[in-house]
Amino acid sequence: MKVIILCAGYATRMYPLTLVKSKNLLQIAGIPMIDHIIEKLKRLPIDKIFVITNNKFFNDFQIWAKDKEKIVVLNDGSNSDKERLGAIGDIKFVVEKTEDDEFLIIAGDNLFEFDLIDFVNYGRKKGITIGIKRVEDINLIKKYSQVILDQNGKIIYFEEKPENPKSKDAAICVYYFPKGVLRKYLDDYLNQGNNPDMAGLFIQYLYKKVDVYGFVFENKWFDIGDINQFHYANFYLLSKKLEEKFGKGYIYFFIAPGRVNIIGEHTDYNGGFVLPFAVDRYIYLAVRKNNKKIANFMSLQFENDIVSVDIKNIKKTNTWADYPIGILWILKKQGYDFEGLDFIFESNIPIGGGLSSSGAIEVITLTALNNLFDLNIEKTRIPFICQKAENEFVGARCGIMDQFIITMAKKENAILLNCNNYQFEYIPVNLGDYYFIVSSTNVSHSIASGQYNKRRAECEEGLRILKNYLNIKTLSDVKMEEFEKYKDKLPELIRKRVLHVISENERTKKASECLIEGNVKELGELLNQSHISLRDLYQVSCKEVEIMREESLKIEGVLGTRITGGGFGGCLISLIHKDFVDEYIKKVGKNYKEKTGITPEFHVSQIVDGCLPF
Ligand code: GLA
Repeated sequence: MKVIILCAGYATRMYPLTLVKSKNLLQIAGIPMIDHIIEKLKRLPIDKIFVITNNKFFNDFQIWAKDKEKIVVLNDGSNSDKERLGAIGDIKFVVEKTEDDEFLIIAGDNLFEFDLIDFVNYGRKKGITIGIKRVEDINLIKKYSQVILDQNGKIIYFEEKPENPKSKDAAICVYYFPKGVLRKYLDDYLNQGNNPDMAGLFIQYLYKKVDVYGFVFENKWFDIGDINQFHYANFYLLSKKLEEKFGKGYIYFFIAPGRVNIIGEHTDYNGGFVLPFAVDRYIYLAVRKNNKKIANFMSLQFENDIVSVDIKNIKKTNTWADYPIGILWILKKQGYDFEGLDFIFESNIPIGGGLSSSGAIEVITLTALNNLFDLNIEKTRIPFICQKAENEFVGARCGIMDQFIITMAKKENAILLNCNNYQFEYIPVNLGDYYFIVSSTNVSHSIASGQYNKRRAECEEGLRILKNYLNIKTLSDVKMEEFEKYKDKLPELIRKRVLHVISENERTKKASECLIEGNVKELGELLNQSHISLRDLYQVSCKEVEIMREESLKIEGVLGTRITGGGFGGCLISLIHKDFVDEYIKKVGKNYKEKTGITPEFHVSQIVDGCLPF
């Protein structure tokens, strides 16, 4: 038997997330979506699995398929949604490339729990068979295909996307075709000029020509058509894992985004301005009370690694879990009362990747505790408690920016935060035909946290010296003229650091005006200036970041690029015209890989809300 997994669509409903990555390769519960399907095929008698994709994502699928057995990745040659062959066109494309056989066809965005063995056995007995799922809400049928079966399971009615559904049986794109039939009917269907796009239309045509059967699946099924379904699927699988590891109980769900800073780098701990937004990369949390005095932490990114702490005696574990454990520690220290919990996390925010996975895990943990135990902590206090936990428990002297934006973020807005008095403003992000694209170097140098603390100490030293001459509380109080007047009092290295902070603060205020005015050109210029300052004065860049930046500036349509976050690796943020995104990913991806040997990752940012219960 041969399997065809359909992965050539462009998932436009999930743009811009799927502009740079195939939907089928997005990670759900720790692994790419398609791997959940591959897992289900393991017990079937299969000789080949054809994964049909498009030219845009062909390379990514080839990398994914490396070292995997039986998988053949095929490229249908299309480069955009406009050129797509459609589901039926793609099935034909595969069928023409291989000898006749029985075929199992599965849409690559189906996520299901049911076993395919019974399905295939049923098909072998009956003939052409399609999967059927009974949905609870009849209105949902309007999005799918409606099916009516007779007593023998034969389809007697089929309608793709019905306006007035009569039954709750939906057809799902899991098809079985015995040997000798698929090619013939495909040819007939397509030669008559029928629509090659929706797989359901082919079944609608087929059941009138030949007997087609429906096999009703009982277990859970997700059709990952939009971002909400994607979140649901993640949470569902996460809750399963939680039950598997820790037993049953009422489960609560929370979601927290990552952070991208547009500009205002290393200004937060100097009382300056920052201009970050929350980006649509997420940490998912499923959590329940366990009625014990123990907190258990598990992450799908660190499989099998359950970290447990006694909540009456919370100690550092020197593992990833110190970030959430720090939250429990600080809450206890501040006199809050709570009981034992089981936590399970999943993240598609790259760990150590410069998008503040640490801030997100802190905020999500505190938000969860606040909700589960009615701690009545005001939202505006959450970032400060998280920061304190990271400073005092984990030992990283981070500023407030990450935790602040992850808590307070609002869709389609950045926040201009004054870290001197913590007043903030939502700044609508109005980029017209431009996007912020995030390019991950996929390196995080281990010196980062030591160097971060060192930079802070250097700034403190600069402040100490300047206080002898100026009436200031933070470096951000220093005006450029004042700096010019007293700069000779500062040792050379400290002078550089201070100049970065003062100039970056000015750039940040200007950048927020550019956002409001939609002045992308000047904004791009400010990003470039910020980077140069971070590279030459603050010295937090590294080789890989410079290579990525150099490559990205070669692309027409890029108005500016800079490193974002703490530094020494992580991500760059670039302002890019929509029409150049594909070229950017292709060229920058290729050249960066050639020059560093590292595969980068790209993400076209959508600006989302802060941490919430789900
Ligand atoms: C890290 C810290 C932030 C901020 C940035 C640099 O992300 O967590 O507080 O200092 O670095 O701007």
